Amino acid sequence: MIGKAGEILRAGGLVAFPTETVYGLGGDALNAQSSQKIYAAKGRPSDNPLIVHIYRMEDLAPIVREIPQKAEALAKAFWPGPLTMIFEKSERVPLTTTGGLTTVAVRMPSDAIAAAMIKAAGGYVAAPSANTSGRPSPTVAKYVEEDLSGKIEMILDGGQVCIGLESTIVDLTVDPPMILRPGAITKEMLSEVVGEVSVDQTILRSDSGQAPKAPGMKYRHYAPKGDLTIIEGDRGKVCARIEALSKEAMERGLKVGIIGTDETVGNYHATSVKSAGNRADESTIAKELYRILREFDDEGMDVMYSESFDDGGIGAAIMNRLLKAAGHHIERL
Ligand code: TXA
Ligand code: MG
Repeated sequence: MIGKAGEILRAGGLVAFPTETVYGLGGDALNAQSSQKIYAAKGRPSDNPLIVHIYRMEDLAPIVREIPQKAEALAKAFWPGPLTMIFEKSERVPLTTTGGLTTVAVRMPSDAIAAAMIKAAGGYVAAPSANTSGRPSPTVAKYVEEDLSGKIEMILDGGQVCIGLESTIVDLTVDPPMILRPGAITKEMLSEVVGEVSVDQTILRSDSGQAPKAPGMKYRHYAPKGDLTIIEGDRGKVCARIEALSKEAMERGLKVGIIGTDETVGNYHATSVKSAGNRADESTIAKELYRILREFDDEGMDVMYSESFDDGGIGAAIMNRLLKAAGHHIERL
């Protein structure tokens, strides 16, 4: 399978593959035509750059202008893993891959299938998440198939991914390094290695009026078909408010979905009540969030209500994606 995938990629074709974060839609990163095919298969605007995936450190230097010391330190600490770093690109990376930018995003995934496939492909695989533009990123092969079947040459099935949210993106062309997208490698973890780290303010607020530094963050990603509202505040009040909103919407004949947690789902009544995971371990929530959003789409929910999550650790990434899915519609109690 891996050998076949490598052949397809070398010939300019597309292969979807598992990574530890979400499934990726891979093409040869150094082949401009392959990148164009990726944009077409996803229905993605071509000004939204792709991440170049490598499998070993020595392949970084040829595609970047320089490797800042802090990048070296972060690579040592977190590669292979869910961290993407932005560098000034070298001539070898086509502008189609970088959406016209002179910088390039690079990541070394830790998933064994991903690593073997990148190696078989020749070392450089451009890959966005393997979803149709605007849908939640796929965490199982079934959802890749739903979105991309017939549009790509092959899907490698590695079962459910382990993290469930896309990689942390850090810009190393500025000092201090700046987080452009929160993920499983948290701000605290990065700071421990390189000291001060800043955060693109557009990640946190929808009303800053500024363009986000990662072009993809400006699009309303992860958008479910129904209306999603996040309810934030004291836990008891949140539960009561969600239950009241659900009751009211059901009485109006709407299909209602609720995203709760293991601790609270027993209290809710709606068309469909789902637990995102366990508050004691928020990584369980990261892992299931996109699946739940997709299931609510499949079940045809008209409105959805979700509890909010703590902002620390991976919670920052969970809330970032949830806020985007909700179009920043949040009710604070
Ligand atoms: O976990 C992940 O990163 C997954 C897996 C497949 O590796 N990939 C992923 O790719 O999430 P994608 O294309 O869905 O998201 C990449 C994000 C986009 O928001 C894009 O705008 C940003 O990275 N990006 C890529 N290159 C960039 C660059 N040179 N400067 C700033 N942002 C960049
Ligand atoms: Mg994506």
